[in-house]
Amino acid sequence: MNLFLKLFIEQTFKRPGAALDLGAGDYKDAKFLQSLGWKAKGVDIKDRVDLNFVYLDDDRPFDLVYSNYVLHKIENQENFIETISENLKENGYFFIHTIIDNISKKKQLEIINEPLKKNNLKLIKSLVRKIYDDDPGHHHWHTILELIGQKNQNKIAQDFNTPGLLINHNQQSGSSAK
Ligand SMILES: C[S@@+](CC[C@H](N)C(=O)[O-])C[C@H]1O[C@@H](n2cnc3c(N)ncnc32)[C@H](O)[C@@H]1O
Repeated sequence: MNLFLKLFIEQTFKRPGAALDLGAGDYKDAKFLQSLGWKAKGVDIKDRVDLNFVYLDDDRPFDLVYSNYVLHKIENQENFIETISENLKENGYFFIHTIIDNISKKKQLEIINEPLKKNNLKLIKSLVRKIYDDDPGHHHWHTILELIGQKNQNKIAQDFNTPGLLINHNQQSGSSAK
């Protein structure tokens, strides 16, 4: 399980909801959320869902749409951002971890800034982390951009109480990244 996603969920949601994982891989995060009582599902190109194209899930809308270590592989990030919005409930949250080893945080944010606005997604937090990839055959550090936001939300502070996350504004070591 992505430990930062777990932390975010624990600090943001009072009870389990419905979640969609974009680029779920082996579905370990979705399975973990299911074990906590969430209705969690995922999609991946392995299951013939190419997230370069806008994807509308039959079970939408979700309380949470998240995606770990996929955005940097997507050529059409505009469509990816639209997919997040289309599958989110009003006031639902998104959580993204993307690898920025080969791109600056500024440049990555420039790419998605307009699509976020266009799709009524408000960025609450963007922070860089150093995460060690200890998968077999990997064993190296990645620079990760963590993006957290909400759809159509104007009064963010009310429900978004994340003191634990606030200590991590700068680069930190943490869980494994794929
Ligand atoms: C590094 S893995 C991360 C898997 C999972 N999110 C995790 O954190 O363990 C990247 C995943 O993105 C998927 N992927 C890559 N390009 C994709 C695309 N265009 N559409 C959908 N999934 C894609 C891959 O199949 C792979 O499962």
